[in-house]
Amino acid sequence: MDSPVFDAIYNRRSIREFTDQEIAKDQLLEITKAGSWAPSGLNNQPWRFVIIQEDSIREKLAEQTHYGHIVRAAKGLIAVYLDTNAMYDEVKDHQAAGACIQNMLLAIEALGLGGVWLGQILKNKAKVNEILGLGKELDLMAVVAIGHPQHRNQKSQRKPLNEFIIKEF
Ligand SMILES: Cc1cc2nc3c(=O)[nH]c(=O)nc-3n(C[C@H](O)[C@H](O)[C@H](O)COP(=O)(O)O)c2cc1C
Repeated sequence: MDSPVFDAIYNRRSIREFTDQEIAKDQLLEITKAGSWAPSGLNNQPWRFVIIQEDSIREKLAEQTHYGHIVRAAKGLIAVYLDTNAMYDEVKDHQAAGACIQNMLLAIEALGLGGVWLGQILKNKAKVNEILGLGKELDLMAVVAIGHPQHRNQKSQRKPLNEFIIKEF
């Protein structure tokens, strides 16, 4: 089917190698805006974002994850949070955060940039909050690393669809 939405869904790959080219601030704001247009239960919009382009902060964050090399290479980072004070349902608010992050990844693709959802850094989420000067009410969901892709030959696979469809009526 010829559709930019399907194209973005199927062509998006996690990009982990970036060039040195800076990302325009407007583009980071556009990605954040796309995240904020995700659906959320009761439209409560529990997500919060920290946009990072500063080298010293990037380096401190890089030290908090096994994937520090990706964080160091990414010219833009967006930390995605749930504001626990804005939450109304544990499961549904986490689902909304996932939808938000996926919207951001698709926006990154649409802008011709590359990005990856970094979750491993959550093991040091308290330290990340300390680095970013945030309180305990903000719960880190992911750091999205963004940059201009060095190449686009990443491969990924999915299991056959019939392994996921458990019943049809
Ligand atoms: C919850 C979650 C956490 C992830 N954490 C990391 C991570 O810490 N480091 C990383 O390189 N990729 C991470 N990824 C990206 C996955 O490895 C990637 O989406 C998966 O291998 C499929 O590849 P694709 O995105 O190119 O289709 C994460 C993805 C999700 C959804």
